[in-house]
Amino acid sequence: EAIEKGGYEHFMLKEINEQPRSIADCMRGRLDAKNGRLVLGGLRDYMNKFQNADRIIITACGTSWHAGLVAEYLFEEFARIPVEVEYASEFRYRNPVISDKDFVIAISQSGETADTLAAIELAKSKGATIFGVCNVVGSSIARATHAGCYTHAGPEIGVASTKAFTAQISVLTMMALMLGYQRGTLTESKYIQLLNELEGIPSKVEKALTMNNNIEKIAAIYKDSRNFLYLGRGYNFPVALEGALKLKEISYIHAEGYPAAEMKHGPIALIDEEMPVVFIATKDTSYEKVVSNIQEVKARKGKIIAVVTEGDIVVRGMADHVLEIPETAEAFVPLLSVIPLQQLSYHIAVMRGCNVDQPRNLAKSVTVE
Ligand code: G6P
Repeated sequence: EAIEKGGYEHFMLKEINEQPRSIADCMRGRLDAKNGRLVLGGLRDYMNKFQNADRIIITACGTSWHAGLVAEYLFEEFARIPVEVEYASEFRYRNPVISDKDFVIAISQSGETADTLAAIELAKSKGATIFGVCNVVGSSIARATHAGCYTHAGPEIGVASTKAFTAQISVLTMMALMLGYQRGTLTESKYIQLLNELEGIPSKVEKALTMNNNIEKIAAIYKDSRNFLYLGRGYNFPVALEGALKLKEISYIHAEGYPAAEMKHGPIALIDEEMPVVFIATKDTSYEKVVSNIQEVKARKGKIIAVVTEGDIVVRGMADHVLEIPETAEAFVPLLSVIPLQQLSYHIAVMRGCNVDQPRNLAKSVTVE
């Protein structure tokens, strides 16, 4: 086992650190920015269906569902097709309206999640096209779908998903860019520019991994907190959910993720000097709004930990702690902003003496309802 951990204390830490490589593996042979090429073999026979779909329905559970939420923003921004993101466990029992003009994307690391598999069977029986985004080759979900695209992140052992999440987002990003380009909703020049930026993401993830040597110090300060709030907007809203889920899963600290602007409709009542609030406040279209949300928390004496774009001085002047990530295109920020949140939850869990790789009551793959 020590050999499998590659010198790391836990699989989770190994998998967090593997992300530059796993994302590159996911894009290898598919993305060639220099020649303006993006090829997803699994989509070849289904591009027509995808391009002409009335609606994209994404179904998944857990962290994979969070990747689906990121994809909602990606598909709507680049391809202008309406998207619905559904918890598989709800979708399967809701008698949902599905037609043969729907393109369903099922996301699953293990490819064995019972609820996701049942959602696929239901959508299939109504005539929809089903596309899988799985990590495990030959898994039940990979076999049940009409077509699909593997994430190629390599085996993920830690129960809390890390590298599978960023690989799922990488696949979904490539799908969104292809779709936007084919549909003409993304201009050629913008497409090429984004392909180039995407190709550079693994090295930016590498940088993000090494930027914040103060994470352990921050973890030591807040490890005994009873609650955490995670707030973000736009592409960073799903990242806030994922950051909170990571902390809950492995450290057993109660954490909630919220869209930052919804704070005023409830969570703001929880804020006092005991409450750490993690803001994802990168330089993007909602930056100014998030800054004013930070001010609201500060006025109520909440402790602010902010994930910011490298070089940000405004938030640095307001927050108790900042975690920097490199600058990138707004749509690609989740691939970077989730990194310090994974690291923060890892260090807090280790300091609390938790079993990071096998948290209590959780399973890597949930094959029963
Ligand atoms: C379990 C795992 C999570 C995972 C979820 C969905 O709850 O502990 O890490 O996100 O299942 O799993 P899947 O394999 O379908 O992505």
